[in-house]
Amino acid sequence: MAKQVAVLIGSLRRDSLNRKLANALKVIAPATLSLEEVAIRDLPLYDSDLEGASVPAAWTAFRQQVKSADAVLFVTPEYNRSVPGGLKNAIDVGSRPYGSSVWSGKPGAVISVSPGALGGFGANHAVRQTFVFLDVLPMQQPEAYIGNAAKLFAEDGSIGVTETRDFMVKYLEAFATWIDRSAA
Ligand code: FNR
Repeated sequence: MAKQVAVLIGSLRRDSLNRKLANALKVIAPATLSLEEVAIRDLPLYDSDLEGASVPAAWTAFRQQVKSADAVLFVTPEYNRSVPGGLKNAIDVGSRPYGSSVWSGKPGAVISVSPGALGGFGANHAVRQTFVFLDVLPMQQPEAYIGNAAKLFAEDGSIGVTETRDFMVKYLEAFATWIDRSAA
C-alpha cells in the first residue's frame, strides 16, 4: 500500500506557485507515495486557553489528519526570509497539547518555492529548525530550493522546466526511500 504523505502548503493564495508545485508533484510521485494536502487555512490561531473543553474542531481535524499520515511534506514560500505565519500556526497547532504532538517521529521533507533567485532558502531552514524540537525526521538530502518559479510551469500546470521536473522526480523517489528507512 502507498505511504500516505500529508502535504502542508504554506501559501493561501489562489494562484500560489507553491500550490501549483504541490499539485504537479502529485502527478510525478512514485506509486509508493500518495500525496494529500492537509489544509491550514481555517485553523484558528494557536491559543492554549482553547485546549480541553473548547478545542476548535478545525484543530482536532487537522491533528487527526497529520497523525494518521506516514510522513509530512512542506511546500512553502518564504515570507520576510522566514516561514509564513499561517504555516507556523499549523506547526504550532499540531505540536500541542504538550506531550501529544502529531509531528513526533514522522519522516519529513521541505520544498521552498519562490519567484526570486534564492528559492526560499530562509523559509526552508526555518521549517527545518522547527523539526529539531518537533522530532520530525528530516530528509537532509536532496535539498529543494526552487527559485525563478514564475517561469516554472507549463499551461497544463505541469513542471515545464525539464531539469526541475527531473530533479523533483528524484527528490520524491529519495523521499519514498527515506520514509521506508525511517520506519525500519
Ligand atoms: C514575500 N515574498 C518573498 N520572496 C522571497 O523570496 N523572500 C522573501 O523573504 C519574501 N517575503 C515576502 C513577504 C510577504 C509578506 C509576501 C506576501 C511575499 C514573495 C513571495 O515569494 C511571492 O509572493 C510568492 O509568489 C509567494 O508564494 P506563492 O503564494 O506564489 O505560493
